[in-house]
Amino acid sequence: MAEKKVFTLKQVAQHKSRKDCWLVINGRVLNVTSFLEEHPGGEEVLLELAGQDASKAFADIGHSKAAQGMLLKYQVGVLEGHTVQDQDADKSAALRDAKKDGMSAFIVKDGPTQKYAALAEFVVPLLVAGSYFAYRYVTVVASHA
Ligand code: HEM
Repeated sequence: MAEKKVFTLKQVAQHKSRKDCWLVINGRVLNVTSFLEEHPGGEEVLLELAGQDASKAFADIGHSKAAQGMLLKYQVGVLEGHTVQDQDADKSAALRDAKKDGMSAFIVKDGPTQKYAALAEFVVPLLVAGSYFAYRYVTVVASHA
């Protein structure tokens, strides 16, 4: 399994160019080459830490849960002497979402309740307006009769 491959910091340090950029975050060895251009914080910060342990910098920014989930997507192994748990439900769900399309974890799906609420929002004002005009029609017609 790719996630279980063990690397030393020396081996990681050999991947520190724009064309081949690895980082260590929380014991995970990550190949972030394809992520450099996509990183919302810019590629420079990643390149500055290329080939090194970036755990502290990553934590100091206060990256979101989505960002933490993305780590798994780029993991190629673990740092020697570290054990990382991949298989708990939360993290594999985060991985699935990150793989699908980055931020999909934030999409809230419409449930049946929301659909009825939307329908009511549309129908109730129509009924009120309809009743008003019906009332006006009746009273105006009555006053002219
Ligand atoms: C593979 C590792 C990384 C991933 C997947 C990642 C992902 C992200 C994501 C998704 C964001 C958007 C904000 C958020 O969701 O938290 C972000 C912002 C940012 N990241 Fe990273 N990041 C990584 C590593 C790093 C490292 C090592 C640094 C080093 C300093 C860094 C610095 C920043 C900065 C400065 C921002 C912008 C924060 C802002 O504008 O508010 N990131 N990153």
